[in-house]
Amino acid sequence: MGNRLKASESTEQRKVSVAALKQMKAQGEKIVMVTSYDYPSASIADEAGVDSILVGDSYGMVVLGYDTTIPVTMDELLPVCRAVRRGATHPLLVGDMPFMSFQVSPEEAVRNAGRFVKEGRMEAVKVEGGREETQIVTAIARADIPVMGHIGVTPQTATLHGGYRIQGKDTDSAARLVEDALALEKAGAFGIVLEMVTEEAARMITDKVSIPTIGIGSGRFCDGQVLVLHDIIGLYPKFKPKFAKAYADAAGVIKEALNKYTREVRTGQFPQEQNVFRMENDKSPKANPLRKP
Ligand code: KIV
Repeated sequence: MGNRLKASESTEQRKVSVAALKQMKAQGEKIVMVTSYDYPSASIADEAGVDSILVGDSYGMVVLGYDTTIPVTMDELLPVCRAVRRGATHPLLVGDMPFMSFQVSPEEAVRNAGRFVKEGRMEAVKVEGGREETQIVTAIARADIPVMGHIGVTPQTATLHGGYRIQGKDTDSAARLVEDALALEKAGAFGIVLEMVTEEAARMITDKVSIPTIGIGSGRFCDGQVLVLHDIIGLYPKFKPKFAKAYADAAGVIKEALNKYTREVRTGQFPQEQNVFRMENDKSPKANPLRKP
């Protein structure tokens, strides 16, 4: 391709758009997506050059400590979206529509998708579900809000479908997933998250649709990958999914720091001279009774 730039390359970091993700698929460039739930991690993800940030409803589990994503509400997610927006300017920002924010009616789905954009300052939304949600996807897309689908394991309805069971294990199930993906594309989705889909089925889907597929636990042939930030940095020791890779041990680092801090406070090693403030001008031992001669 000579000296032409790839969609994700430039001398300075550029704003990533929905169109850029599509172009990345066309050029065979992998798309990098990560979740984020606050200002500092969003700023770091931006500096690291990720293509997209998902403010996932996984926030409910990894930050709020719920057992599932079901209890998460719009009102909990919107301030999180705003914090992420303040931290990240380049990646495409996607808000994850929580359980019951889009299922009731297309009108309510559009209203809540609009809240993600207007109040949460997101640039796109994601809804869980395949062909059964195409009406919703169409309504959101028609309101000019870029929308992603999410098929395979869909945590908001996992209990309904027998738990977190890998999808696309046989030909029929793989064919259903392909149909779901095609239906979402036709409905106007700009991308699809594939969660815990067999590598073979994920590859079939990726080959069949012209929109990018972003895999999580769905093998190597998706157009991109997404992981929960806490899994990448090792900050959710309660559960470590087989498909994730921990690139750091943040929980260990935090624990070690807190152990040291606790010890030093208790033994009087912290604070030290460099951590204290002094009275102005008169620094003589007489003026400061705490200062040693
Ligand atoms: O909420 C989330 O983090 C997600 C990812 C698993 C894709 O939906």
